[in-house]
Order: sequence, then structure tokens, then C-alpha cells
Amino acid sequence: MTTLTPDPAMAETATIAALEVSGLTAGYGGPPIVENVSVRALRGAITAIVGPNGAGKSTLLKAIAGVIKASAGTVTVEGRDATGLPSEKLVRRGIAYVPQVANVFPQLTVQENLEMGGYSRRHGLHERTEELYQLFPDLKLAHRRHAETLSGGQRTMLAMARGLMVDPAVLLLDEPSAGLSPKFQSAVWERIEQVRATNVAVVVVEQNTRETLRHAQWAYVLVLGKNRLDGRGRDLLHNDEVVNLYVGVLS
Ligand SMILES: Nc1ncnc2c1ncn2[C@@H]1O[C@H](COP(=O)(O)OP(=O)(O)OP(=O)(O)O)[C@@H](O)[C@H]1O
Ligand SMILES: [Mg+2]
Repeated sequence: MTTLTPDPAMAETATIAALEVSGLTAGYGGPPIVENVSVRALRGAITAIVGPNGAGKSTLLKAIAGVIKASAGTVTVEGRDATGLPSEKLVRRGIAYVPQVANVFPQLTVQENLEMGGYSRRHGLHERTEELYQLFPDLKLAHRRHAETLSGGQRTMLAMARGLMVDPAVLLLDEPSAGLSPKFQSAVWERIEQVRATNVAVVVVEQNTRETLRHAQWAYVLVLGKNRLDGRGRDLLHNDEVVNLYVGVLS
């Protein structure tokens, strides 16, 4: 009998996630806000984390990014354990985190913001900036403007580009389209798709759930700080429980 034996090296490459979070528990000193949460994100894919207000989505991203310390669980980046590392070390390991607010330096120019984003690069600062200007042409046009003069949508683009300066494996985005007009929301999603196409693992926390699930190859629903369910984004759009959680949002 003949069997198809996959090349073990290939099989291993195929299964190593850019980000593997397992059993993460974290909070702010009181009772845990997220408990025993597991999330996996692959390069070249958009992974969404959705859930009601206060579910702990932002807390989860902060714990993954090392901004707050997890009390249990593991974080693995491209197969290497990164549990408990502080945020600046995680950046070097390939995790870029874009918080929802205060994600650019308002008084610096677009160009200076990008340079700050790439501070930990040993070389290739100029080349990387040029690559990102190609991905975000609006930023190139605005490269001398102070970030505080940009529109909300442009600021979001700048925050994403700043995160990408280190050429990360994983880009964590906390509500990139929040507060933007529908036109800018679509523009942000267009850019997120382009970033995904550059083989980055994009992890997005979002409120605009329908749009998010449409774009996500895989999505996790977080409720009361715990994994509730996960699946292909488009499948979850039709999942009764997800629809019930978002009555009025998905309808
Ligand atoms: N810095 C903090 N210190 C103490 N508690 C906090 C802090 N930030 C958030 N929390 C609490 O953690 C819980 C989860 O908040 P979190 O911001 O992670 O939720 P979220 O899912 O991102 O919500 P939203 O959809 O409103 O952004 C909330 O009860 C909130 O009050
Ligand atoms: Mg939040």
C-alpha cells in the first residue's frame, strides 16, 4: 500500500504559527480580566478578536504585547517561546502593537514618526520607510506634516505604518477603524488587506464586527474574558450565537 508521506520539514513549517497564545491569564492586579485565553495567528492571514464591550479584547492585546504582565499562559512567536518578555524585547522578536489611542507622536512629522517606529532597526531604516511609503502613498504625500494635523484615517494609517517599521511577523491592531467615517473604515481595511498580503500575521480587535468577520480568515469570540468560540470569519457571520451577541450590530 502506498501512502502520501508529507515532507516532515514542510509539514512543520506549515504548522508553525506566527503567534501562538496558550492559556493566557492577565489583568490589572485585581481579579483576572482575561482568563485562560488561547489564540493562534498565521502569517498572511487576518485573525480577528471580537466580543462585546469590556470583554477584555484590549487587555488581551496588551498582555500579548508585554505591556501588562500575564499571570499564566504562554506566548510563542514563530515557534520560539516569548512568554513574559517586556514589550521592547517582543518588538525585536517580531510583535508590533498598535494601541487604539496614543499610537503616534502628534508633534512629530509623519517621517519622524516612522523613524521612531524603526528605532530598534540596526539598518535599513531608509529602505523600510520607502517600502512603507509605497504601501501607504498618502503618508508619502504628507511626510513633512505633523501627525496632529492628519485626519483620523491618516493617523490610523500612520500608526499602522509605524508598527510595520520593524518588519514584524505579527501586527496587533486595537480597533483600527473605530471612530472613522465609513469611507475611511474601508480605506483602513484595504490597507490591512495589503499588509496581510505582505505575509504579516495581522491580529485585529474590532467593534465593527460584520466588516471584521468578512475580512478575517479566522476569528475568536471573547466573552467575559474567556474564549467563547472561534471559526472562519465568514462562517461566524451566520453563527446564531454571534448574531445574538451583536444584536443591532450585525443586523
Ligand atoms: N488600566 C486598567 N485598569 C483596571 N481595569 C481596567 C483597565 N483597563 C481595562 N480595565 C477593565 O478591564 C475590563 C476589560 O476591558 P478591555 O478594555 O480589555 O475590554 P475591551 O473588550 O477592549 O472593551 P471595548 O470593546 O470597550 O474596547 C473592563 O472591565 C475594564 O474596566
Ligand atoms: Mg478595547
